[in-house]
Amino acid sequence: MPDSRDLISTERQPEDESVELSLRPNYLSEYIGQEVVKENLRVAIEAARRRGDSLDHILLSGPPGLGKTTLAHVIANELGVGIRVTSGPAIERPGDLVAILTNLEDRDVLFIDEIHRLSRVAEEALYPAMEDFSYDWVAGKGPQARTYRLKLPKFTLIAATTRTGLLTSPLRDRFGISFRLEYYSQEELYQVVKRSAKILDIPIDRGGGMEIARRSRGTPRIANRLLRRVRDFAQVRRDGEITREVAAEALTMLEIDEMGLDRSDRQILLTIIEKYGGGPVGLSTLAASLSEDPGTLEDVYEPYLLQIGFLERTPRGRSVTQKAIEYMGKSVRSREQGRLFEEP
Ligand code: ADE
Repeated sequence: MPDSRDLISTERQPEDESVELSLRPNYLSEYIGQEVVKENLRVAIEAARRRGDSLDHILLSGPPGLGKTTLAHVIANELGVGIRVTSGPAIERPGDLVAILTNLEDRDVLFIDEIHRLSRVAEEALYPAMEDFSYDWVAGKGPQARTYRLKLPKFTLIAATTRTGLLTSPLRDRFGISFRLEYYSQEELYQVVKRSAKILDIPIDRGGGMEIARRSRGTPRIANRLLRRVRDFAQVRRDGEITREVAAEALTMLEIDEMGLDRSDRQILLTIIEKYGGGPVGLSTLAASLSEDPGTLEDVYEPYLLQIGFLERTPRGRSVTQKAIEYMGKSVRSREQGRLFEEP
């Protein structure tokens, strides 16, 4: 059985890659949700197209799994230009960056994922590239040193980050456009599930789709992953069709509860409640109690618990909310009665 942690993890997993490609929308009209972002993009893209100019550099931020990479591909398609994809950690030296930049065509998109992990020297080489489409390099040393200016194509940088707070302000200031992607509503996630089910030829009704949407933590990547796991269950244990009952049963078997929380989330909340009187407890103390890495706790588990109002970050550490205490009480009582949830 898959580890429930892999199911709700917002990190890209090997199995997702090829499926994500087949599910990826190509144009803004097919991209579900993020309405404000799409509307602003339509205007910016149309204006650039009319001027025959490159689109301003764009910074996309927000939690993982919300479709930042997908959006970068959509933008390139809408512009009718090529896209080159790389990531902050993959660019070690300025030379790596220059090699990529010189191979672009005018108006092409360069997508850099995890830009907050770009090395300082590469970041500094990026400044004149973004601003003047040029790269300055110094040949020789001492009095003989000469600076050469290399002309680059007029490209559009689209950068993605889960942590805007980690960007330096000189870098942040060089993006003409900045968007923050938000968690998806349940109805939007339902639309994502319905669209994916159609592409993958999976029979599903509205109840089944809504059940998956409700437990997907506002994240399309998770919704698409849960859809595939529920399909497995429907095919092996039922007649193949995903209804609300089938989805609920499959997800319960995968230990994903009504709020989309998995065993690790519940363990985090229970630990704060039972061991630390509801908090506040420091991140590293909490991580040690759970034998978990503090970074994973902060980047993978906390964002959604904060979003649904179950967790609070205070100057003295993490605290659970009354809402979380009530939910966990209900969850524990139903577990003691041999059920994962209370009956409605
Ligand atoms: N797949 C993942 N994210 C999506 C989105 N926002 N719209 C449509 N399909 C998606």
